[in-house]
Amino acid sequence: MIPACSVSWPLASFIPFMTEVNVSTASNNTALSIDSLAVDGQQFHPQPFPLIYAMSANSETDPGAVAAWVQANLDKLKRELSEHGAILFRGFPVVSDLDFDAFIQHFGLKNFTYTDSLSNAVRRNRTERVFTANEAPANIAIYLHHEMAQTPIYPSALFFFCELPAITGGATPLCRSDVLLNQIEAVLPEFVKACEDKGVRYTNTMPDQEDLQSGQGRSWRSTLNAPDKAAAESKLQSLGYQWQWLPEDNLRVTTPVLPAVRTLDDGRRVFFNQLIAAFQGWQDKRNVAQKSICFGDGSVIDPHAMAIVIKLAEDLSFDMAWQAGDVAWVDNSVVMHGRKPFTGERRVLASLLA
Ligand SMILES: [Fe+2]
Repeated sequence: MIPACSVSWPLASFIPFMTEVNVSTASNNTALSIDSLAVDGQQFHPQPFPLIYAMSANSETDPGAVAAWVQANLDKLKRELSEHGAILFRGFPVVSDLDFDAFIQHFGLKNFTYTDSLSNAVRRNRTERVFTANEAPANIAIYLHHEMAQTPIYPSALFFFCELPAITGGATPLCRSDVLLNQIEAVLPEFVKACEDKGVRYTNTMPDQEDLQSGQGRSWRSTLNAPDKAAAESKLQSLGYQWQWLPEDNLRVTTPVLPAVRTLDDGRRVFFNQLIAAFQGWQDKRNVAQKSICFGDGSVIDPHAMAIVIKLAEDLSFDMAWQAGDVAWVDNSVVMHGRKPFTGERRVLASLLA
């Protein structure tokens, strides 16, 4: 889940636009030095996107001081996450999966577990709340999406952590979904109206055993947390899904009608769906991308309109090129994310919030 941009962000290119904030720790009175910074390519809607906090090289790095900074600023950070859509923490003392887990816990937010989710992606847990972002091969792009918008159950936000950046590529495109919807509506008002009026239904064929060659290769046993067919059918029934068993015990499921446009509590409307990812990327030996999604009444979604939507979204995306130790906090209601192909080993971990 994260882009082919290989632009790097050396700290020397940062342009500070806020004054340094020093926090004294109770134990040794050394200073925590964190600046809010600007980078090339950063967008303004009008808020900076993403918002970036970078810890100075000479800063105190004691985890207790970092925890105190997060907790002292938590209300502000939550507000900023919603307003900006994404916050990048750079240069913080986060090196390992356990550091990442501990950093997340400073925020005191409720975990959204992979086991309970209906995500299609194959992942590996490192800790109870931290897992690999997607096990799909390096040459496979994961296109822009809101996490799990193709299911009735989705996380409110995500944390990403770069343990090891790719050699080339592997950036994470981030796209403001509220801004995108305004742009789509300006050129395709009838399409947006159809999305709002009809909603969408998603169809996906899941394998009996996990398929690591696919970005949607999670088995139905894992996806539905069901040991056998009867348990799978019971779960699907409770969710309002339709289903069909196929040869090799593959399972094709179709969701109930889900909204394609949502209105947030603050009145912003967002293009909250999986249209872009489904049209571009839901393709494997079991699935045909453009047959994975239709309007709620069963009618076909115009591929020409989707080509325009996809181009708008690509042009609007900020490609986040990872540096080791980066942590990004992404509001899943406001921002879509993806992953661009890469070379070399790339270890980006994720955690979901309820
Ligand atoms: Fe994702």
